[in-house]
This record gives sequence, structure tokens and C-alpha cells, in this order.
Amino acid sequence: MPGPKALFLMFDVSIFIRHNFARIWTLASRNLTTLEIGYISSVMVTEMLTTNLELQQPHIQPPVFPKIQKLSLSVDYITDAMVGTISKGLVSLTHLDLRDAPIIEPRLTFDLTNSGLQHINPHGKLKHLSLVRSQEFLVTYFKRVNDLGILLMADRCANMESIFLGGFCRVTDSGFRTILHSCSSLYKLRVFHGTFLTDLVFHDIRATSLSLTHVSLRWCNLLTNLSVKNLASNVDLQVLDLRDCKHLGDGALRAIGTLSKLKVLQLDGSDITDMGLSYLRWRVIGSLTSLSLRGCKRLTDKGVSVLFDGSSNLELQELDLSNIPNLSDNGILSLAKSHAPIRELRMRQCPLIGDTSVMALASMQVGEEEGWQGSSLRLLDLYNCGGLTQLSFRWLKRPYFPRLRWLGVTGCINRDMVDALARSRPLLHVACHGEELGTDPWNNMDEIYVHDDDEVDEFEQWLLEGRGDDDDDEDDDGDEDDNDGGGNGHGPDHDEVMNDAENAEAMVE
Ligand SMILES: *[C@@H]1O[C@H](CO)[C@@H](O)[C@H](O)[C@H]1NC(C)=O
Ligand SMILES: *[C@@H]1O[C@H](CO)[C@@H](O)[C@H](O)[C@H]1NC(C)=O
Ligand SMILES: *[C@@H]1O[C@H](CO)[C@@H](O)[C@H](O)[C@H]1NC(C)=O
Repeated sequence: MPGPKALFLMFDVSIFIRHNFARIWTLASRNLTTLEIGYISSVMVTEMLTTNLELQQPHIQPPVFPKIQKLSLSVDYITDAMVGTISKGLVSLTHLDLRDAPIIEPRLTFDLTNSGLQHINPHGKLKHLSLVRSQEFLVTYFKRVNDLGILLMADRCANMESIFLGGFCRVTDSGFRTILHSCSSLYKLRVFHGTFLTDLVFHDIRATSLSLTHVSLRWCNLLTNLSVKNLASNVDLQVLDLRDCKHLGDGALRAIGTLSKLKVLQLDGSDITDMGLSYLRWRVIGSLTSLSLRGCKRLTDKGVSVLFDGSSNLELQELDLSNIPNLSDNGILSLAKSHAPIRELRMRQCPLIGDTSVMALASMQVGEEEGWQGSSLRLLDLYNCGGLTQLSFRWLKRPYFPRLRWLGVTGCINRDMVDALARSRPLLHVACHGEELGTDPWNNMDEIYVHDDDEVDEFEQWLLEGRGDDDDDEDDDGDEDDNDGGGNGHGPDHDEVMNDAENAEAMVE
């Protein structure tokens, strides 16, 4: 049987005894092209690869991973030694994805420096490079890399299509500009914590031949509207992540409003207002599949309504409206009326959101005519929504929200109801401690990720059990789930839903 081509070890492999671990790899398939490891120490990476290199000469044994093209590792420290061995040992590499999360400030011998960067990509074959220092345990950056390191790396970057640099706090405009002006195949650029990155980086981006489709600039606090204006010359932009760039305002949205191919837009924590959102109404909202406005505190219902009222054929699947203090049920009602095929809705920490929103969403209809009736939501985050009462829990029971898999609520207030709900919907993950729901820890939208769509969800199960062929909704309150212990009475029937939602709408009008 031929060995696997791809190996994903999405766990902490350091639980293996080191010596054995290195030997395991001599058994690894020589055909392996992809290796991804959830956690491994940098010492182990170096050992694993140097053992193989040393074996090569005396025993004339070829390297163990001759064909690896994609390597993705999460480590304790990205070090020069580790990067050097990877570059030497893996000659076919096209994708290199390294992430670290130091628990103490790295010392010189345990850190990445300009010299390490110089050794990355010796053969110029890399297409994708990702080097990220995450701040999971400690606020820490790559303090030993400056513009020189980037300059040396950019020397061989003509084939690079995607670059992700996270935590390079000493790199300035001239380093980042070098990337834009040297890496002529680049179409994806991500920079996190670009502390010194200013508008000057994009000032003459029109002079390059680049056509960027993915741009992510997170925690780049010196950026203003001007950068976004210049970036918008990349008319094919599909993904624009500007989270936590707090000086961006409506001027940025005006430029974004021209990007008719945009699918993903993230503006968390920016200074935009309702007026700015109206720029998205004409060319952008129709193509967006994901929009995040979390923590844009100047927004109100008016902005949300401007986006959704009268829009048709929306493709929006993910929406984050969390932490918007002036957002109320009225804003959610206009979303509910929009027929958007929404799958994930986050609106945690909104003090004015209450039961009316839950009712409206429960009776939301997707698709203009032939679409199936009922909410398409798979994820709903209502954690710390100020206006929720026990009434909402009646609408979170079956048969409402048939596809729901993730629900965030404030647990301590409604403990009994949360428990009863969790019991009656075993496929539903109910989170009540404020955990973020369904987030991908690698935050890596363009790489391989696990699909859970293969599993049967409640809606499908309901169909399989033969309850899907009702010709209409009237006999829906058969209430098969009688193991639902704590509920006080059954859920309201569908007509009641519609009426309440209509009433709620009438209230708005
Ligand atoms: C590698 O692939 C070749 C050709 O597909 C196959 O014949 C061989 O058995 C594979 N080797 C291993 C160790 O899986
Ligand atoms: C740019 O953004 C800021 C928000 O920080 C805003 O005050 C300013 O008016 C914007 N400029 C333009 C031209 O829109
Ligand atoms: C939000 O609501 C408060 C209280 O009603 C009001 O004072 C404030 O101006 C509102 N903010 C915005 C951005 O409309």
C-alpha cells in the first residue's frame, strides 16, 4: 500500500519521547508532500531534520522527506537554527508556514534574526511564506529582525505569491515596500502588528504591476484612509481584513465601495459610521460573503438598515455585529428581512439586543422564493446580549433554527434553561462562558481546514426521519423531543412565530 502523501498531526507531538520521535520519521513515507504539526518544539524540529542530514553521508541514505512541499508547524520559538535546517533539509519546499507563541521573551540563541531570514528560501522555490509570532502567552515580537532581514529575504522572492508576516515590529515602511516592489508574483499580503507600517508603504503601489486579491493588515495602527484608497487600485481584491486599524474611517469605506469583487471585509474596531456603510450598498454588499464590524462603536441600526433594506440576492453567510452598543433589535429585523443565507451571526456584547431579534431570526426565510423556509443559521453568538430573557429560549428549541450547531449565551443567568436546551439538542454546542465560537485557531482561510459539513445536521436528520414532507408548517408542533426536561411547556407553534415576528416588525414601523 503506498504511504500517505499528506500527514496532519494536529496535536502536541512533544508528548513523544524525543529519541523515538526522530526515529519515527525514518519510517515516514518518502512520498510525503505535506506535513502539518499542531505543536512541536523547535529543538525537535531541528533534531528531526539534522538526524536525517547526518545519516545521509555515512550511510548514503537519502533524506527522509525528499518530496515535502508544504510544511506547516506551530512551535515554541522560531529560531535561526530551525529555519536553517528546514532550508537545508527540505529542498522541494514551496509552502512554509511557521508560527510560534513564546512563553518567555526569547534569548538570542532561541530567536529569529536577520541572519535566519537570509537563509529562508535558498532556491527561490517558495510560493507561500508565513512567519508569525502570536501573542497567545506573552506580548512579544520578532525584535531581532529589521528592514535588513526583509531586504535579504526579498532578494529571492520573485516566485512568492503569498506572504504573511506577523509580529515584525521593527520592520518599517522601507522593509514592507521592498516586498511590494520585489515580489512581483505576490497576490496575498498579510501583515499583523505592523507597528511602524504607515501610509507610505502603499503610496506608490500603482507603480508596481501587482494585482493583490487578499490583503490583511491587522493591528497596523498608523494606517489611515489614505492607505485604503491606494490599496483599492487593486480592483480584483476579494479579501480585505483591516481589523484593529483604529484610525480607519468613512474615507476608507468610500474607497472600499468601488471593489465589486470583494467577498470578505473585516473592519473590527475602526472608526466608521453609518454614513460610511452606505458606500457599500451599491457595488459591494451584493458580493460579500463575510462582513465583520465588531466593535465599530459608532454604528447604529441606521447603518445596518441602510445595508440590508432593499438589497436582494445577497450572498452574505457570515456577519459579526458584536460589541456595538447602539445596535438594537431594529437592526437585526432588517437583516432578518433581507433573505441573506446567513450561517454565522455574532452579536455578542450588544446591550440593546433582545428577544425580538431571536424571534425574527427564528422565522427568517432564506432565498427569494424556492429557498427552504427557516433559519439557515449554524452559529449564533448571543453572549452578553442585554435584552435577552427566558422567552428567547423557547425560540431556540426545535424546530426553530434546525441547522444550529453553535450557540453562545450568557450561562450564569439562565443555567436551567441552558441545561435543558443542551439536553434537548444534543448536536448543539452551547457555550456559556464567553468562548469564541467555531473559530479556526490558525485563522488561515486559504489553507486546508476541516469541514464539518459531512456530518448529518439536525435539519437533515429531521428530513431523514420523514418529517420533511409536510406540505406546510401547520402541524409542526408534534414536539417529538419529549426528553426536554426543564422547559416550561412546549415551544410556540409556527404561526405564533410569524405573528410575533410580524408584530415585532409592526412595532418597528
Ligand atoms: C511512493 O509512490 C510510488 C509511486 O506512486 C509507489 O510505487 C511507492 O510504493 C510509494 N512509496 C511509499 C513508501 O509509499
Ligand atoms: C479618515 O478617517 C478618519 C477616521 O479616523 C476620519 O475622521 C476622516 O474624516 C477620514 N477622512 C476622510 C477623507 O474621509
Ligand atoms: C448611542 O446612544 C446614545 C444613547 O442614546 C447616544 O447618546 C449616542 O449619541 C449614540 N451614539 C451614536 C453613535 O449614535
